[in-house]
Amino acid sequence: MTESAPQEPRASIKSFVLRTGRMTAAQLRALEDLWPRYGLEPANDLYDLDSIFGRSAPRTIEIGFGDGELLVTLAAANPHRDYIGFEVHTPGVGHCLLRAAELGLANLRLVRADAVEILSRCIGSDTLDEVLVYFADPWPKKRHNKRRIIQTPFATLIASRLRSGGTLRLATDWVPYAEWMREVLDPHPNFRNAAGDAGYVPRPTSRPVTKFERRGERLGHEVRDLEYIRR
Ligand SMILES: C[S@@+](CC[C@H](N)C(=O)[O-])C[C@H]1O[C@@H](n2cnc3c(N)ncnc32)[C@H](O)[C@@H]1O
Repeated sequence: MTESAPQEPRASIKSFVLRTGRMTAAQLRALEDLWPRYGLEPANDLYDLDSIFGRSAPRTIEIGFGDGELLVTLAAANPHRDYIGFEVHTPGVGHCLLRAAELGLANLRLVRADAVEILSRCIGSDTLDEVLVYFADPWPKKRHNKRRIIQTPFATLIASRLRSGGTLRLATDWVPYAEWMREVLDPHPNFRNAAGDAGYVPRPTSRPVTKFERRGERLGHEVRDLEYIRR
């Protein structure tokens, strides 16, 4: 392996840089009109998810949902599950709000804040059934590797929020990052690699193609899917 994952990244390092991006008029309106319906504000206490969704159901979160197309597709296809998406890129949040309203989704909520902070503060232990991290920023330059979201402390945080037997699914089009993910997650005491020694799972047929995946394919990148079970 050419890149090795540090065990203790500095807590203040963010996994994102806020991209500038023009909001369309429709996205701006969506942030005003639809945010009250779909948005969850950062809080200092745990979210009461049963009361937020008005039911107790299996729960999936997606970290860094981009434009949210995958998230709304999954939420529409699985009305028996509840979904919470985390994204800091405001135009993406606006796009996702518009699509959620078009599809009339009742089982989706969005958080526009750093997923690491909100998971730590607002999501209780053993509450999630599934965590999705698809095409996370690969931070390919060695001096930027420390910004990668997949690090041992973050894996420990996710494991604590997942129920026993819950699943962490990841995909990346940057093979060195896939190797880094394995280096962090394979030895982690709270996770078991569902692929065993093979390391990677076949692309799940249920996973819709994302915008960043299409971009990776155009650049000729190979995609790796990973799946870890919470012990
Ligand atoms: C490369 S994009 C991939 C987006 C989408 N998953 C896709 O495949 O099209 C990664 C996204 O993760 C978001 N992101 C990175 N770190 C984050 C964090 N700590 N909390 C919330 N979003 C984050 C970025 O804003 C960015 O939109």
